[in-house]
Amino acid sequence: MKKTTLILGACGQIGTELTLTLREKYGNDAVVATDIKEPALAELKNGPFEILDASDAAGLRAVCEKYNVGTVYHLVAMLSATGEKFPMKAWDLNMQSLLHALELAKENIIDKIFWPSSIAVFGPTTPKRNTPQQTIMEPSTVYGISKLAGERWCEYYYNKYGVDVRSIRYPGLISWKSQPGGGTTDYAVEIYYKALEEGKYTSFLSEHRALPMMYMEDAIRATIELTEAPSDQVKVRSSYNLAGISFDPATIGASIQKLMPEFELDFAPDFREEIAASWPESIDDSAAQADWNWTPKYDLDSMTEAMLSNLKTKLQLS
Ligand code: SER
Repeated sequence: MKKTTLILGACGQIGTELTLTLREKYGNDAVVATDIKEPALAELKNGPFEILDASDAAGLRAVCEKYNVGTVYHLVAMLSATGEKFPMKAWDLNMQSLLHALELAKENIIDKIFWPSSIAVFGPTTPKRNTPQQTIMEPSTVYGISKLAGERWCEYYYNKYGVDVRSIRYPGLISWKSQPGGGTTDYAVEIYYKALEEGKYTSFLSEHRALPMMYMEDAIRATIELTEAPSDQVKVRSSYNLAGISFDPATIGASIQKLMPEFELDFAPDFREEIAASWPESIDDSAAQADWNWTPKYDLDSMTEAMLSNLKTKLQLS
């Protein structure tokens, strides 16, 4: 039986697009989608779909054996803003599900794992601009603590047991097919919906609070390129910095106004402002560029164009 690819968290913001992209590439039956809930998007059932709680070790093992899984894309996590409301739940979910997958790879039940880390691994003491691959990491959110611990476990399983695990520190991800949930960077998705639906938006981050972001198409390409790179090119086994596009709410607002001059933006920062203030403004991703030839395609204005035109069709606005 041919090896298959397993997606954990296939109904989420990244999982949805990764499942669709990998099925297009390898065929519907080659990619097994799983999530704790039924998909809202019927398209996700155009190949195998299983309900699976990724923190259920026995359930995960059974799915890996049933489908002869080779590669696991582990995209299950509670993000930064929700994590602050449910710290223990975030820690349990984020850590247990990763450790179960690492154990399966150690036992050679699966061959390879992709697991995402985040800019949230950095903290208030990290250099804010052009943040290096290796630097001070003192995260102040539960989400960031869980991602940093996860990075350490990934590297540990690689060094100790030869587990082939690969990871990216995603910036905030901006997408139109599926929405994020519970993150601090979510404003940069909401803003496009509100621009089209209401012509105005109130940002929950302040005007000049810059963060690293990336258009989903670039993030999916990075994910697949890293996961499919020859093993000897993958020199970082904790997690790679990925830069993307850095901007603040005022600047994304101005980018929207180039296409929608009547768009109005104001600011009412809430508790997420403090989380954002602890993260970098921009990232140095020279290691990803050097090791597996990473280059992004989208800048802020091309992303704005793509978001507005795709969302217009999706929301059936003319
Ligand atoms: N998008 C994430 C968040 O805001 C950062 O990785 O939590």
